Formats: sequence, structure tokens, C-alpha cells
Amino acid sequence: MREESIRVSPEEMEAQRRFALDFRSLPGRPQTYHIVTYGCQMNAHDSEKLAGMLEEMGMTPAPTREEADFVLHNTCCIRDNAERKALGNVTWLKEIKKDRPEMLIGVCGCMVQEPGMAEKILRQYPFVDVAFGTGNIHKLPELLFRAADTRRRVVAVPREQSTLIEGLPIRRESPFQSYVTIMYGCNNFCSYCIVPYVRGRERSRSADDILREVEALQKQGVQEIMLLGQNVNSYGNDVPFSVTFPRLLRRVSETGIPRIRFMTSHPKDLSDELIQELAENKALCRHLHLPVQSGSNPVLAAMNRRYTRESYLEKVEKIRAAAPDIGLTTDIIVAFPGETDRDFEDTLELVKAVGFDSAFTFIYSLRVNTRAAEMPGRIDPAVATERIQRLIALQDEMTQMRFSEMIGKQEEVLVTGASRRSEKQLTGKCSRNISVNFEGSADLIGKIIPVKITAASKTTLKGKALE
Ligand code: 5AD
Ligand code: SF4
Repeated sequence: MREESIRVSPEEMEAQRRFALDFRSLPGRPQTYHIVTYGCQMNAHDSEKLAGMLEEMGMTPAPTREEADFVLHNTCCIRDNAERKALGNVTWLKEIKKDRPEMLIGVCGCMVQEPGMAEKILRQYPFVDVAFGTGNIHKLPELLFRAADTRRRVVAVPREQSTLIEGLPIRRESPFQSYVTIMYGCNNFCSYCIVPYVRGRERSRSADDILREVEALQKQGVQEIMLLGQNVNSYGNDVPFSVTFPRLLRRVSETGIPRIRFMTSHPKDLSDELIQELAENKALCRHLHLPVQSGSNPVLAAMNRRYTRESYLEKVEKIRAAAPDIGLTTDIIVAFPGETDRDFEDTLELVKAVGFDSAFTFIYSLRVNTRAAEMPGRIDPAVATERIQRLIALQDEMTQMRFSEMIGKQEEVLVTGASRRSEKQLTGKCSRNISVNFEGSADLIGKIIPVKITAASKTTLKGKALE
């Protein structure tokens, strides 16, 4: 448990604000920016903070990266393909920069925080001007000031990630749905996962800071917040006398914010207290993302997940008994080292037994320096592909089953915008986090309205607005 304050000091935050102001008067400085974001919600939210700082520095968004004076790539490294995509796009900009040499290129986020990556960027990507990790995003004003001022490359990656950064300006993407981080980092060290190495140990924000942020959002008319953390169920475990996660949820709902979601729950830490809160607290959305990763006990043990297939199913049963209207979603990895046909069949059986609303499915991707990287029994890529295809086909059936059960029901839908297909069609999210399309006028955008579900397609529901 931590003892001393780990917050970045107010003096340091003030120094960064001064760099932001000085940047505004730097001759020939970049005027416009474009951020390309990869990966999870945590990264999407970091990009909102990066944009907040860039605007404080007097920059405005450019519609495309080709037109921007500063292009920042906020990267992800969870799987090999995420990393390759980011590096490919950075390389592609090299050509644009040939025609516009004054353009500045930045790379930040999880990939940069990997051991050895900053050196690799310096060596292999000489056209990158600024690189920094997830642990020092608050330093963007200083780093970009130095890069623009000296036209020299600036790289800054903290070795340790042990700080809490409060008070950054945030440029939020949506006026009615907002992310609120409640904790940073992860202590779990699932054997396949690189996150604990690039995001550091768990650090919980204080409940007071979180509540202040939510109260301000509620006053601005935000309808839905998503509380973010790699493992929200262990919120507060690193702070003496902190409130528990279910207690935090209760206090957040007392602000009057209409809807609350949270991501991600680790099954091993999902407490009876949280299930009780899900059953009783009407502001909590009827959705729980509960990554199972595998349905096989030997694979779960090798993954260091610290629960069994049986204890996972038991928790699902408890949730369903307490709150039957909650939709469950999950993450699953196939072809983990040593996964046998029997292990994979166990995963399929679990998927059938639970009946998830939807699942994110992945083929295991080796991450250097993680424990699974050393494990024997690498799976033939052809077998991995066949397994993921079978899994997706089964999950598609389950999704169809779950979606068709909703036909005829009335759902509360937060209207998020016009549908991509037609102007008269609106789209939104029901409490279970499923997209619902229906006809209606644009003045409903940003409101929560009742919609009767009339049909289900593969990935969305169709409905009729009752207002
Ligand atoms: N290979 C494949 N999938 C992974 N995930 C995390 N690490 C890996 C990896 N090395 C998946 C897990 C996690 C989700 C965010 O990404 O399913 O829950
Ligand atoms: Fe990675 Fe496991 Fe932490 Fe999730 S809980 S971020 S999968 S180590």
C-alpha cells in the first residue's frame, strides 16, 4: 500500500502551463494538429487530454493528418498487429513530410513505453520529432516547445510509471458521453499481457477528485459516463482507508448523472458487494464486460488469471440471479501456448453456457518480456485461424439469440447521432450497450428516450421511438 503522495506536483503542472503559453508566441510554431489514436478507451481518453493540452498551446484541429502541422500517433502495443499498424502509418507520413518539411511528427502511448522502443524509434524512424511514454503525457507542452524551438528530436520516456496526473485540460469528443479515469495501471500480470509493463502498477485516483470531475460533467449536461481502469474492481486497494469500488459507484450515482458504465472488471475481484450494487443502483447501466479469456482450467492457470471455469460460471449465475436484465460481454484469446483441442472445446462450451451479448475475440499474440513468451506449445497459425473462426461463428449465433430476445421490449436509448446509412435514421445505445437504430429527428441527439425494439440484425437492433 502506498504511503506518500504520488501526484505530479502543482509546481510541475504550472511549469507545463507556462510552456503552453510560451509556445503560443514561438515564431513559426505549428498551428494545427491531428491525433491518430489506436487501442482501448484508456488511449481514447488520453487523446482527449493530449488534445486539451494542444489547444491550450493555441493549436486548432486539422481535418486530416496530411494537412496538420503536428501529427501525433497515440499508439497501442497489446497485440503485434496494433503495433505494426501504428508503425506503418508513422512511416507513411514520412512521404508527406518530404513535401512539407516543417511538419512535426510525434509518437506517444503504450508502444513508446515498451523497453527499448524509444531507442528503436530514434534509430529507425529519423523523421519522428517527438516521442514520449504514457507516464509523462503532461509534459507534452515542454517537449513540443523544445522540438519546435530547436528543430531537434526530443524523446522522453520515464523508466518507472508511478505518478498520478491531475488537472490536465481535456477536450472531450462528445458533449453527452464522457470518460472518467478512476485508476491507472495494473497489478495482475496475466502471463500474455504487456499492459502492466507499459502502464505501471495500480494507482487509484482519490474519490474526491473523481466526484469533483463527475459533478462538473453532470452540471454540463453529460448523460453518461464511463469509469475507466484496467481492473476497476480493485479500485482503492492501493490507498489506505479508500472507499471500495461499489461504494464509489454509489457516490458517483449520487451526483445525479443519469447513466454510469465501467470498464474493465476482472472476474477474480468481482465481489458480492458489486453484484448487490448492480442489482440495486438504477444509474448503473445493464451491462457488464467480464473478460473470461478461456474456458479451460489449465489454460486459465497458465494465463495466471486466478479463477477457474467453475468460479467464473458461478459468478455469472449470481449476477443473473441478482440482476437478470444485465447483458454480459467478454474477451477471449484463442491459441494460447499449449492450448489443446480439448481446451478449445471447453471455451466453446463456456461461450454456449453463458450466452454473451457479444465477445471480442483474439488470436494469442506473443509479447516480448511477458511470461507466456517463454512458454512451450506455440500453436500453428492455421489451427489458430480455424479456432477463431469457429468461435466467432458460435458467438454470432449467441448474439442472434440474445438480440432476438429483446424484440418487443422497451429500451432506454441514449441517442448519439445520425445513423451512417440515412439522415432520417438516428442511432444510440441502450442500457445494455447495444446499438439501436430508429427513425427520428436530430433534436433527439443527446437525450435518453424510450424506444421499442422491433427487429434485430447481426450487430444492431432496430426500433421505434416512443417519444
Ligand atoms: N494476445 C492476444 N490478445 C491479448 N489481449 C491482451 N494481451 C493479448 C495478447 N498478448 C486481449 C485480452 C484482453 C484484451 C484487452 O486484449 O483478451 O482482455
Ligand atoms: Fe492485462 Fe490482465 Fe491487467 Fe487486463 S488484468 S490489463 S489482461 S494483465
